[in-house]
Amino acid sequence: MLPNLVVEPLGLAEIPCLEKKTLEVRDILDQLHNGQVFFRRILSQDEAEDWLAARHPYSISINLAKLGLNTRIILYEENKGFKGFRIYQFPDENFFLIEQDYVIIMKNYLLSLLPLLGGNDVELDTSRIADSASRDSAYWDNWKKNKEGAHYKLEIYPRCVEAISAIAGEFNGGEMTLVDLFGGDGEFIYSLSSIIEDQYPRLKMSYHVVDNNLVSIERANELHIGSAFSAHLEDLAETENIFQVIGAAPYIVTAIGGLNKNVISKEEARKLAGTVYEGLNPGGFFVVTGYSSCHMNSLQFSEIGFEILNMSLPENIATGKVPKHFYILKKPNT
Ligand SMILES: C[S@@+](CC[C@H](N)C(=O)[O-])C[C@H]1O[C@@H](n2cnc3c(N)ncnc32)[C@H](O)[C@@H]1O
Repeated sequence: MLPNLVVEPLGLAEIPCLEKKTLEVRDILDQLHNGQVFFRRILSQDEAEDWLAARHPYSISINLAKLGLNTRIILYEENKGFKGFRIYQFPDENFFLIEQDYVIIMKNYLLSLLPLLGGNDVELDTSRIADSASRDSAYWDNWKKNKEGAHYKLEIYPRCVEAISAIAGEFNGGEMTLVDLFGGDGEFIYSLSSIIEDQYPRLKMSYHVVDNNLVSIERANELHIGSAFSAHLEDLAETENIFQVIGAAPYIVTAIGGLNKNVISKEEARKLAGTVYEGLNPGGFFVVTGYSSCHMNSLQFSEIGFEILNMSLPENIATGKVPKHFYILKKPNT
C-alpha cells in the first residue's frame, strides 16, 4: 500500500548506504555519549518537551529506529536558517539533552540521512508556531499568480495525485467519494480526476470541492470536471458538519493548504480534523499537506483517533523543497 510514500522496513544489508550512515551516526552519538562535546544537563522528557515548546516552535523529529538505534533526535531552527541546532537523544527513557550551537557535522550527516528514511520516521512539527490572522477571502481570488501558487501546481499536486492514486487502487471496481476541503478553483481535482480515470477505468469516483471563496468556486464550476463533480461555497471555520451540509460520505478527504497558518486558526484546524474523522467512512483516508506551516502534528491527529501512515517527505525537508509536511491519516476500520 502507498508504495512510493511509505517506506517499508528493510534490512540494513539491503541498503548499503543506509548501513554506512548508521555507522557514521553511531560514531557521532558515541562521541556525544563520551562527553567529547559540550553536554549541559539531563532533562526529563516532560521538561524537554516544555522547554522546546516554549522556545523553539519549529522542529524536526527524526526516529533512528530504522538504523537499529533506539533514538529520536530533534533538530530545531533558530532565527533564519538552520544555524542553531540542538540534539535531543531519547534512548529508551534515559534520554538527554545536548546543547551545542554549532553541531555542523551532525547536522550535515542528518540532512544527508533524511532522504534514506521513511515518511513516518521524520516529522516536521510546526504545530507550536503562534497563530496569525487568517488572510481575507479576497486574497484568495488571485493567489495562484504568486510564487506559492506555482509550487502547488508543480510540486504539491503531483505528490497528492501519487498518494491518492495509490489509495484509489484499493477501490478499483467500486465507488468512492473524495472531498477536497479548501479545494479552491478545483484545479487539483481536475488533474487528479483525469489520471484516476485513465488508471482505474472501473472505479466510479465522485468529487466535491469545498471553499469559501466565490471567485474560486466559480472557476471550479467552469472547469467542467464532469457530472460526478460538485463545488460548494461554504465557510469551513463556521460550518458545524460539512459532510452533512454537502451530503457526502467520503472515503478520502484532502486538505491541501487548508490546516495551515494564514488560512485558518489552530483551533479551527483541530475542530475540523475532528469533523473529518467523524465524517470519514471507517477505513477512509485524510491527506493533509500544503506550502505554509501546518497547525497540527501527528500526536494531535492520533489523539483524534487517526492512524498515522505518513508524516513528511524527508527528502524535501533535507533539500528545502515543498511539500515538507505530508500526513496520510487513516480512520481505523473498526
Ligand atoms: C492555500 S489555498 C489552497 C487552495 C487549493 N487547495 C488549491 O490547491 O488550489 C487555501 C484555500 O483555502 C480557502 N479558505 C480559506 N479560509 C477558508 C474557510 N474558512 N472556509 C473555506 N475555505 C477557506 C481559500 O479560499 C483558498 O482557496
